[in-house]
Amino acid sequence: MVTAIADKRQKAALASAQLVAGDKRYKILQTTMKRHQNQSDALIEVLHKAQELFGYLDTPQLRFVAQGLRIPPSRVYGVATFYHFFQLKPKGKHSCVVCMGTACYVKGADKVLAGVEEQAGIKSGETTPDNQVSVLTARCIGACGIAPAVVYDGTVTPRQGVADARKQIKEWMSHGS
Ligand code: FES
Repeated sequence: MVTAIADKRQKAALASAQLVAGDKRYKILQTTMKRHQNQSDALIEVLHKAQELFGYLDTPQLRFVAQGLRIPPSRVYGVATFYHFFQLKPKGKHSCVVCMGTACYVKGADKVLAGVEEQAGIKSGETTPDNQVSVLTARCIGACGIAPAVVYDGTVTPRQGVADARKQIKEWMSHGS
């Protein structure tokens, strides 16, 4: 029994390490948890940070936070669903998260977002009626060197112009019809 629990913890730690290695946003989230000495009472603050980084909260992020703060995933999920200011993964088949942090903003992220919203026919935080595309914003995803950055279906994409973003949305939407 004890071995099984240790095994489970080891697997969770390994999964977290892989997330940190593969996505800078997880590294930033890890630093935020460390700054709070990985204390469980920092949960809400850490979830805020996760939402800022990703635009929404998803299962991998919730598990990552649970592991980092050493609390059960069920509790993290419970808190994330209880407070209205947390947004769980949107229901669209595809997600487009436009970074609106300072570095991206000064390089035209507001225009990119406006282009995305117009192309999709929805506002940030909404999903198209056919459930194809959800549009969200984030605040600095840790990729300022490649601003303006947009995250398409979880892939951080560098130097996005209005035309690039519109093209991606158009392509997603045309596959839905
Ligand atoms: S402001 Fe967009 S990545 Fe930092």
